[in-house]
Formats: sequence, structure tokens, C-alpha cells
Amino acid sequence: MKVLGIESSCDETAAAVIEKGKVLSSVISSQIDIHKKYGGVVPELASRAHVENIDGVINKALEDACTTLDNIDLIAVTQGPGLVGALLVGLCAAKSIAWAKNIPLVPINHIQGHLESVFMSNSKIKLPSLNLVVSGGHTSLYYVEKRLDYRLIGQTRNDAVGEAFDKVSKIMGLGYPGGPIIEKFALIGNEKAVKFPISRMSDNSLDFSFSGIKSAVVRYVENNNIPLYKNKKESQVYHDISASFQKTVLDDILEKCERAVREYNPYSFCVSGGVSVNSYLRSRFSVFGDKKGLNIYFPEKELTTDNAAMIAYTGYLKRNEAKTVNFKLNAYANLKL
Ligand code: KG4
Ligand code: ZN
Repeated sequence: MKVLGIESSCDETAAAVIEKGKVLSSVISSQIDIHKKYGGVVPELASRAHVENIDGVINKALEDACTTLDNIDLIAVTQGPGLVGALLVGLCAAKSIAWAKNIPLVPINHIQGHLESVFMSNSKIKLPSLNLVVSGGHTSLYYVEKRLDYRLIGQTRNDAVGEAFDKVSKIMGLGYPGGPIIEKFALIGNEKAVKFPISRMSDNSLDFSFSGIKSAVVRYVENNNIPLYKNKKESQVYHDISASFQKTVLDDILEKCERAVREYNPYSFCVSGGVSVNSYLRSRFSVFGDKKGLNIYFPEKELTTDNAAMIAYTGYLKRNEAKTVNFKLNAYANLKL
């Protein structure tokens, strides 16, 4: 069974073909260069770029998989959450192909795609597990007792982790997207140089909050008259702030995860989403796993960022829900899992 996956929820236009869970092709057209000068994703520009790229990306995915639409048995498309204008481009393309070629279509929740990317890369995860999604738009923790059954037990009340990385990078004038830049700057920074606060939920919930640390970085930069980054030779302070910020974010995340492990007593812990590519995060979670006697799992690095292979894979798992022609299918910015 060959599945064509289509993803366009934010700033990546992606298509992939998988067969029995194996990735035959995965094409991602990133819009980083378009949004870079604005320091964040501009929704209208994202939609337009998706419109320009979607055909080419789908054709390339079919070509790379040495197949054609005549051999596709199922189409899986991201329905939400995300930017509605962006989502609609992928959804309309998927609906058109499904109708023209009479192929069953299944709508997929983007977060489920990120959650499933771990299982795609690691087939032997012992359940129950706790699964954390850390991306530019989401920071959500799920309890997974059996496959495809996700219970949300904690989520961010304001900024997502990736969003905080992006904003902190912008505050210092380091560039966009901030995640990989902050990670690189942190490599030669002193993580104890600046003490940033970690969030505390008054109701003792497992929710996250990253707006406080973002504001603390703004205050630190203002109070110490730190100019936007320009000259490499004068950059130690940017490295120190990056390292201290990154450490505090991981202290914060792991404090919540430690409580969740105590409460839910899982066998495994999985972390996925764009931020899960971060090597410092991966090493902190590995230490956490050793300490708690937990197996820690991540997706393969190419499956961490937004991609259509994880959407196709999730579609394959949900193939029983596919319908042949569904013109009423819509996109939802806040689609719940
Ligand atoms: O999953 P993703 O591609 O898109 C969303 O669904 O949001 O995640 C993108 C986010 C961005 O905020 C980006 O800065 C962050 O992932 N990111 C990283 C790293 N690489 C990407 N954050 C920390 N360290 C990285 N190396
Ligand atoms: Zn994503």
C-alpha cells in the first residue's frame, strides 16, 4: 500500500510517499529565506509560497519514489492545527487529487504526526509511555497507554518552546529561526553565567510556561545595555545568554517531566517535534532516562522538523478512517487531538 502524505501547516511545503511504513521519498521545501527578514513566519507570505510550491513538491515526491498518482492507494493530509491559509493549500491539493484520481483521503492532526514520528523511527517502544511534543507552535505532554490513544496531561499556557528560542534569538539579533542558532551559540557559552527563573504553576499542574523566561531575557538585555549582535569578537555575552537560556528551559521542562513520571510511572519517554533535534536537549533527556530507569526515544533527525513522511505514516495507521470523496473536509487552526 503506497501512501502520499501532504503537509503545509506552517512554513514548510512537504510531500512524501511511504509504503508499509517505509519512507520511499520525503520532499520539504522550506520558506526560511522568505520569513527570515521578518524574524518570524508571515502567514500571508506562507500561504502564497505554499501555492507556488505545492505542485512541484508533490511531483518531486512521486518522482523520487519512482511512482505516479496511478499507484497511490491513500492520501493523508494535515488538517490542523496550524495557519489556516497555509493548511488550506495542502488540503485543497489533497482533495483535488483524491477526487480526480478516486483515491481515499484521510485528514491528519499535525501533532499526531509529530507523536507518531517517534514510533516510526522506533518500532519497539514499550507502553505506557509519556510523549512530549516540542515545536515552534506546541509544547504538549501526552500519556500513551496504548497505540493511537493519546491523553493530554500538560501543555504550554503561552509560548511554545521553539517560539521562545526564536524570540530570544530575535531579542539579541542573532537571526531566524532561533532554535539552531541558540543551540550553536550555547556551545561555547557558560550556562551558569546568567540565572533565569524557571516557571512555577500555582495549581501544581503539568502545564508549561515560557513567556517568563523570554521576558527575563528581554530585561537582562535591556538592563545590561547589550546591543544587537554584530561583531563576533565581542560575542561572549551572546553565547553566555544562549547557554543560560537553553539550560533554564531544559531545567524547567525536565522538572515537569520528572513529576509526570512520578505520577504516571511509564516504561518509556518519547520526545518529538522541531526542538527535539537539539543535541543539548537530547543529552539532558538521556541523563534523565538513566536516572529514572526509563528508555528515552527521539525521532530520526530528518523527522523532527515539519515533514510529510510522518503525516503519510499516521495516515497509514488511520487508513480505516479514509473516505473516497469528501468535499466538506475543512482546515482548522486549533484542531484538537
Ligand atoms: O516542528 P517544527 O518544524 O514546526 C512546528 O510545528 O512548529 O518546529 C520548528 C521549531 C522552531 O521554533 C525552531 O526554532 C525550532 O523548532 N528548532 C530548534 C532547533 N531546530 C529547530 N529549537 C532548538 N534547537 C534546535 N536545534
Ligand atoms: Zn510541527
